[in-house]
Amino acid sequence: MRKRGSKRCGIAAALSLSALLVAGAGGAQAAEEGEALFNQHCAVCHQPGGVGAPGLAPALASLLGKRVSAPGGREYLPRVLLGGLSGAIVAGGEKFNGMMLPFPQLHDEQLAALSHYLLGTLNKDTLAADFAPLTAADFAAWRGKPASSAENRKLRTQLDAAGQ
Ligand code: HEC
Repeated sequence: MRKRGSKRCGIAAALSLSALLVAGAGGAQAAEEGEALFNQHCAVCHQPGGVGAPGLAPALASLLGKRVSAPGGREYLPRVLLGGLSGAIVAGGEKFNGMMLPFPQLHDEQLAALSHYLLGTLNKDTLAADFAPLTAADFAAWRGKPASSAENRKLRTQLDAAGQ
């Protein structure tokens, strides 16, 4: 009995290892696709590399890692990308009071790829080491019932207070 159990364990471990390897390779590919999507849809405001533009759109590089790593922070990108963000914010010491429109035209896999680039590349320095990459399912959960842009700003304030 015991022998059989440990054999099963071995098989399960091998399977999850190969799943991890596949996920790892997929992650690199997703980040590349994510960069292309970012340049196509986001860089016009947030600028290439997410460095931001004063008065137009906040910097995203290095400024998102801590916020999304706070408790409840996994929801932040899915909610902003599917529900938008509006109202006065301060990002990197700059004030903004604009409107970030949602991107429901991008499908869940594209939004996941975009987030791999945003978090895994542009926010590698500030993201928690144990942050599991966002998946299409994280975005699917908010599609069709997006939070409002004003609610998302409240979440932003809460996450920043929690992350202090
Ligand atoms: C038309 C300009 C514009 C485009 C295009 C745009 N954004 Fe934004 N984005 C903004 C503005 C303006 C804000 C800040 C809203 C505010 O002042 O409340 C913002 C805020 C954000 C935030 C929150 C930043 C923070 O400090 O919490 C994220 C994340 C974000 N955008 C990601 C993206 C991504 C990803 C894309 C591309 C899919 C994108 N944006 C495209 C204008 C834009």
